[in-house]
Amino acid sequence: MDARGPVDARGPVDAREPVDAREPVDAREPVDARGLVDARGLVDARGPVDPARQSKNIPTTNWRRAMARLAGKIAVITGGGSGLGRAMAQRFVAEGASVVVADINEEGARETIAAMGADVDADGRAVALRVDVTREEDCAAAVQEAVTRWGRLDIMVANAGIGFPGRIATLAKEDWERVLAVNLTGTFLCAKHAFGALRQAGGGVILATASVAGMQGTPGLGPYGASKAAVIQLVQTLALEGARLGIRANALCPVWAQTPLVDAMVAGSRGTADEARARLVGVVPMGRLGTPEDVAAAAVYLASDEAAFITGVAFPIDGGHMARHG
Ligand SMILES: NC(=O)c1ccc[n+]([C@@H]2O[C@H](COP(=O)([O-])OP(=O)(O)OC[C@H]3O[C@@H](n4cnc5c(N)ncnc54)[C@H](O)[C@@H]3O)[C@@H](O)[C@H]2O)c1
Repeated sequence: MDARGPVDARGPVDAREPVDAREPVDAREPVDARGLVDARGLVDARGPVDPARQSKNIPTTNWRRAMARLAGKIAVITGGGSGLGRAMAQRFVAEGASVVVADINEEGARETIAAMGADVDADGRAVALRVDVTREEDCAAAVQEAVTRWGRLDIMVANAGIGFPGRIATLAKEDWERVLAVNLTGTFLCAKHAFGALRQAGGGVILATASVAGMQGTPGLGPYGASKAAVIQLVQTLALEGARLGIRANALCPVWAQTPLVDAMVAGSRGTADEARARLVGVVPMGRLGTPEDVAAAAVYLASDEAAFITGVAFPIDGGHMARHG
C-alpha cells in the first residue's frame, strides 16, 4: 500500500498528514452524520428506538442453516478478506456456492475461509487468492481460478474498496487517483474479465459494492463518493450490455455498516468513539448501523435466480436512509 495509505482494513497509516481517518476533515466539521443529514436539519433519525422492535430487523449469521439459494453457483468475491466481502463469501458458501475469496490481503482471505469450518474446507468450496484489483492480470487470474477449479463462473462480486477522507480543496491528486484506481478501475477490470466468462457460461451476475455515498454528495468523502457514483453508472451500462446475454448487473449501496473500514473512520473522528458512532447512526432512520450480514443477505438475493428480472439497479441497504435523500 502507498505510504499515505487510504483507509482500509488495515486502518489509516499516514502519521504526518492530518487529513486522514484520525482527523477526517477539519476539527469543526468531520465526516459524520451531519454530512449526510437533511440539509435543512429538520427531520432526522434520532428519535427513540425501541430495541425490542428493532431486534426483529437484525439478521443473524447462521450460515450452516441457510437455504442453498445459490446451490451449485461459482463465484468470485473481491475484498473477501474482511468486512462486507467476508460476510458475503461466508454466506455464499452457506447458500451452496463455491467461492474464490480474492483479496490483496491473502491472510484475511484465508481467515474468511477458516471461519467457515472444517466441513467447508473438506468440500473444497472456497479458495483464497491474492488479488490486487488495480492489476488487470490479477482480475483475469481470479476469474481463471474459478473456471479452472470449478468449470465456469456464474457470479462476480466486485466488492474491494477503500475510503480516503479529505476535503476536495486540500486533497492530493495521488490520493484521489488511488481511490479511483481501487474502487472504480478495479470494478471495471473485474467486470471486464468476468463478462466473457459469464457469457461463456450462458449468463450470470455481476454485483458491485457501491454505496449510498454514490447517490448523494458527502462532505469529506469526495473521491469515495465520486468513485461509487461512477460504479453505479458502470453497473447500469453493464446491465444494458448484458441484457440480451443473460448477464445481470446490480450495485449494492450500503449506508454505514459495521466493518473495519467504518471502525477506522470512527476511531479518527472527533469526540469519543461512542459519539462518533452515534453521529453515523443518526443518519439511519431505523436507528442502527448496517451489518455485514445485512449486505450479504441482499447480495444473495440479487445473485440468486429469485432476482432473475432485476438488473441495472442501485440497491440501497440503508435502513431507510435513501427514503429521505433519494
Ligand atoms: N462499511 C461500510 O460502511 C460501507 C458502506 C458502503 C460501501 N462500502 C463498500 O463496501 C466494500 C467493502 O468495504 P468494507 O467496509 O468491508 O471494508 P474493509 O476494509 O473491511 O474490507 C475491504 C477489503 O478490500 C480489500 N482491498 C483493499 N484494496 C484492495 C485491492 N487493491 N485489491 C483487492 N482487495 C483490496 C482489503 O484488503 C479488505 O479486505 C467497499 O467497496 C466499500 O467502499 C462499505
